[in-house]
Amino acid sequence: MPVRTNDIFDDVVAKFSKDSNAFVAKFMEGQSTGSLPIAMGPALRDFPGRWREKFLNCDADNAHKAQMPLIVEIGCHSGHTLCDMAEAHPEALFVGVDITFKRVVQTAERARDRGLKNVFVVLANAGGLKDLFAAKEVSGFVTFFPDPWKKIRHAHNRLYSAKFCSTLWDQLGTGGFIWLKTDHLPYFTEACLFVDHSGFHETSTLPVIGEADFSSFFLRRFDLQGLPWYSRKWSKIES
Ligand SMILES: C[S@@+](CC[C@H](N)C(=O)[O-])C[C@H]1O[C@@H](n2cnc3c(N)ncnc32)[C@H](O)[C@@H]1O
Repeated sequence: MPVRTNDIFDDVVAKFSKDSNAFVAKFMEGQSTGSLPIAMGPALRDFPGRWREKFLNCDADNAHKAQMPLIVEIGCHSGHTLCDMAEAHPEALFVGVDITFKRVVQTAERARDRGLKNVFVVLANAGGLKDLFAAKEVSGFVTFFPDPWKKIRHAHNRLYSAKFCSTLWDQLGTGGFIWLKTDHLPYFTEACLFVDHSGFHETSTLPVIGEADFSSFFLRRFDLQGLPWYSRKWSKIES
């Protein structure tokens, strides 16, 4: 069940009955009891600017957390990539964002089952990303295989736009990064232009991640089908 509103603080859960879908019920319970590292809607109001403090399961104290890189995966699906990155990098904090209850719950359960304390998951439409983080709060944005909206008449729904890239620029600290993968060449070409024109510089190595690669659910699916996909990384270098 996807969240369509771009209002990050909208009380989406209030619009659903917990009987409508097993994942809505799991989400509600996970958020209210704190048994899963998840949040949505009004609960997110005091997160921007204080994200690192919200990793309550993380053993580090707030002074230490304040120094830890904060990496955000947009469209985290069921959490394969997010959890792989978080496991490989306990020195960083990872936020997954997805638009469906099912994906957010699955990601949080995966993180819990793998004993990862540096993962938090948000139910939100990334179209409203500008309200989710404070200026320069984020160290990196990862977007693997965002919905390509292949039909021209649907292309306005694509996440990567000039406005979206300007939000990424504002929310990234100096040296912050964007990592994009997609199988859809027209979208890749268009998104690269938006990112380039926003002032980012292409790079081959990323803070925290270095030159390591990470797979994803969709990447494996495309590889199995022998289909090509494209990857690019950028850095925010301020003069
Ligand atoms: C094609 S899947 C890719 C999933 C994963 N990144 C991977 O590579 O396997 C796109 C994911 O983005 C999520 N998504 C789509 N639109 C979104 C939006 N506007 N905001 C947040 N997540 C979104 C979908 O629910 C889905 O999990």
